[in-house]
Amino acid sequence: MFPTGIGWPGRGSLSARRTAGDTVPRTMSQADKDPRIVVLAGDGIGPEIVAAARSVLDSLGSFGYDEQLIGGASIDELGTPLSDDALAACRHSDAVLLGAVGGPKWDTTDPDAPRPEQGLLGLRKGLELYANLRPVKPLGALLDASPLRRERIEGTDLLVVRELTGGIYFGRKDRGPDSALDECVYTTAEIERIAVAAFAAAERRAGPGGGGRLTSVDKANVLETSRLWREVVSDVGSRYETVELDHLLVDNAAMQLVADPSQFDVIVTENMFGDILSDEAAMITGSLGMLPSASLGDGGPGVFEPVHGSAPDIAGGGAANPLATFLSVAMMLRHGLDRPADADRLDDAVEAALAGGLRTADLFTGAEGERRVGTAAMTDAVIAAL
Ligand code: IPM
Ligand code: MG
Repeated sequence: MFPTGIGWPGRGSLSARRTAGDTVPRTMSQADKDPRIVVLAGDGIGPEIVAAARSVLDSLGSFGYDEQLIGGASIDELGTPLSDDALAACRHSDAVLLGAVGGPKWDTTDPDAPRPEQGLLGLRKGLELYANLRPVKPLGALLDASPLRRERIEGTDLLVVRELTGGIYFGRKDRGPDSALDECVYTTAEIERIAVAAFAAAERRAGPGGGGRLTSVDKANVLETSRLWREVVSDVGSRYETVELDHLLVDNAAMQLVADPSQFDVIVTENMFGDILSDEAAMITGSLGMLPSASLGDGGPGVFEPVHGSAPDIAGGGAANPLATFLSVAMMLRHGLDRPADADRLDDAVEAALAGGLRTADLFTGAEGERRVGTAAMTDAVIAAL
């Protein structure tokens, strides 16, 4: 299994919501009752991994899909990385499944040109998805695929809770003739809500016996926003007596993550530190191609996407590892659509496919029993294991 132990109520929400279906009139047809998933395939390998994810979903049940454009694909078609229509469709869905955005075709240093990544950031901000959950747990079959030694990573089971709608990503930006500015602002309220999400996650992962641990990562020896962060997280911590809180400077955290990753339980950190640390943590699982994520807010649908990017170098070749997307679908089933049993089945099927020796190129080590496969064969194996 690929446990996250978070267990928030459904529809990608961090707060209690109505139970699914309680406003659905009896006269509705089956198709109307199916969960409505907006699919944002995006760029590069995005369309391939999202198509694979749809076939996995179809073998689990009946879902309604609404395909919308994001990123470079949307720039090419509509001149903008995220249209108002696409955002509105996401807002009215039950969950959003996203592939990846970006690629060399749209890379530019021109501050006025549209960039694919703006679509992703606009989506996060537009849906107020302030909490990004990135669970990191190496699967048994992949313990030797990590660049870190097996004995170093064994026992690792951590969750990165990344603040997703504030900080330097969303501060004022400016460019002068020979200078540039990126402002980093955090408000108490922004820190408080992500801290609450992180403490709640630590509580739930630990279960009724307690013993959860939360590590808050900042750069309080240099940054004012970090000093506020540390203060507010500590204040929130006084309301969660069963969770043990400690603070770590980000440079030390980066080092500890490779030196002794199993010491961590839940890590909470601001937007940019979370971006960097989660890529680093991903390598513990053997490949960035294994890391799923869920982006949640206080109401409305969540966005579920693999952490890896659009991998333009292998796009269209049928070689992409679809497993991070499948694991993101499992997070969608668990956190967004309130179907925990299906989520568990899918997590188990991913493990079974790997245990059977199948490896996409990013995971292949050449060890005995491994068989190198592409996206389609890996997808078929996961579906067969469901
Ligand atoms: C991620 C990505 C994005 C981010 C990019 C594509 C804007 O790296 O989701 O981690 O920096 O948040
Ligand atoms: Mg990133």
